[in-house]
Amino acid sequence: MDDLQFKSRYGPWALIAGASEGTGAAFARHLAGKGLNLILVARREGPLDALAQELRAANDVECVTASIDLARDDAAQRLLAAAGGREVGLLILNAGSDPNGALFLDNDLADWDALAMRNVMTVMRAVHAFAAPMRDRRRGGLMLVGSGACYGGLPGIGVYAATKAFGLVLGEALWAELEPHGVDVLSLVLGRTDTPAHRGLMEARGMAIPDGLADAGDVARLGLERLPFGPVCNWGEADDEAGMSASSAAQRRERIRRIASISAAYSAKG
Ligand SMILES: NC(=O)c1ccc[n+]([C@@H]2O[C@H](COP(=O)([O-])OP(=O)(O)OC[C@H]3O[C@@H](n4cnc5c(N)ncnc54)[C@H](OP(=O)(O)O)[C@@H]3O)[C@@H](O)[C@H]2O)c1
Repeated sequence: MDDLQFKSRYGPWALIAGASEGTGAAFARHLAGKGLNLILVARREGPLDALAQELRAANDVECVTASIDLARDDAAQRLLAAAGGREVGLLILNAGSDPNGALFLDNDLADWDALAMRNVMTVMRAVHAFAAPMRDRRRGGLMLVGSGACYGGLPGIGVYAATKAFGLVLGEALWAELEPHGVDVLSLVLGRTDTPAHRGLMEARGMAIPDGLADAGDVARLGLERLPFGPVCNWGEADDEAGMSASSAAQRRERIRRIASISAAYSAKG
């Protein structure tokens, strides 16, 4: 798909939640290069404003910023308010890493609540709010940035893995529901990636920074390329290759298609 086709399918505005650095900023740079206007959201205003300035200077695009804590109960409403009347054709929910790095019982419940609020409730509410007008317009895209942790529980990241499983499963269902309406849904499942948040956590834990971390720019480019080919893209794996999951992206897609008519019957309004 060339940039013009991309813009007419997913433009004119993209909203990136978790845009100030790492993969979120990388999505913003790629999208500005394709001519999409951007709504950049994170908590820290300084990095958001600097990125917006950079993108406006380098591209013929509009760029607005909003400081929103996605772990707050009103976050989805604030995202909608930040979008205002703008036509958002692409929603990227990128914020999502676990800043805690702790065993479940060794952490305050309030921190797990905040993680679940940001990665589950805000994701669900934001998708509901932004996908409805996309379905009406019969075009658009939803990108859920996920993690290989979604494929099973692991010590030290139990709540994180569970929230990422939620995103994966919701994304698969929405892919099947929205495909007939021209709206693309992709869970971009990452492995270990070189982002400031990831580096910060490893440094805080006294871990050496390993070789071979994925590059944030490469990850974002792949995600945008695979957006029309949901519901899942596993970083570092071909579509028909199973690595992080017991089944490949292609097998997961096939499973949904096979069972779709039975499961859809449960949601048919009588
Ligand atoms: N890096 C990896 O190795 C890795 C591996 C697997 C999956 N992933 C996934 O990739 C995505 C990006 O990860 P990341 O490493 O860049 O870390 P991240 O902590 O998700 O940070 C990404 C962005 O989100 C913003 N953010 C974080 N919490 C927020 C909140 N409560 N409200 C608003 N904005 C918030 C950050 O800016 P502010 O701090 O300014 O808010 C930053 O711009 C996440 O979904 C993560 O689960 C990453």
